[in-house]
Amino acid sequence: MHVQPDRAIISDLNRDLVDLYKGIRNYPHKVWETFERFPEGREAYYRIRDMEYRNKPLYYRAARILYLNRTCFKGLWRHSPNGNFNVGYGGEERRWVVAHENIVELSRIFRKASILQADFEIILNQCQDGDFIFLDPPYKPGEKELLEAHYTHGRFSFEDQVRLSKKLKEISSHYSIRWLMTNSSNHDICELYKDFNIARIPKGTSNVVGVYTSNSKEVIVSNY
Ligand SMILES: C[S@@+](CC[C@H](N)C(=O)[O-])C[C@H]1O[C@@H](n2cnc3c(N)ncnc32)[C@H](O)[C@@H]1O
Repeated sequence: MHVQPDRAIISDLNRDLVDLYKGIRNYPHKVWETFERFPEGREAYYRIRDMEYRNKPLYYRAARILYLNRTCFKGLWRHSPNGNFNVGYGGEERRWVVAHENIVELSRIFRKASILQADFEIILNQCQDGDFIFLDPPYKPGEKELLEAHYTHGRFSFEDQVRLSKKLKEISSHYSIRWLMTNSSNHDICELYKDFNIARIPKGTSNVVGVYTSNSKEVIVSNY
């Protein structure tokens, strides 16, 4: 968002998130009008969360996921095993942090991007000399915690973290590219990237806008 390159690829495996980005890019005003019209309150939230939405138009699906993300508990993103968004209601306080002009500005930036739904490996296989890659994989703790099954509901396993680190090593040695990634500061994750630059992020964001926590438990890893 900050660099605003003239050509870019944005990719994620999550179809709802890709719909959100594409919807904002193609229909910023319709997304905003639909988002704005969703009613307030708990009862409306669960009705919109649990509705059949897959056959709705792109702008509606985008507005719905934006609404759910802004009004669910702490902005969490969690699905049940059958793939349905299952986070409870969190209130309206975070909803109006988003304004119409933000959506229009995002649309302008996204118009220069191809927005794809794909596994990271498919995208990284397409990199070319001179590319810059920003990666924001799911923040998982290390292997031990995963084995203790604290965080197994997600689809990004420690094997995926290993797969990602191997791919980044491979492309770093074959291409003249720069990549930068945010990840968990867990020891097992840092161990995967010990040949690269690792910087700890001293402050983390909380669920209160503008309030920071003292330990983010996050790192920034880069090959430059
Ligand atoms: C920390 S979130 C980043 C979200 C995104 N950067 C944003 O701000 O909207 C991690 C993302 O990784 C995606 N993801 C999980 N497994 C993936 C995979 N194998 N390939 C690509 N993306 C994946 C998830 O769907 C999730 O949206």
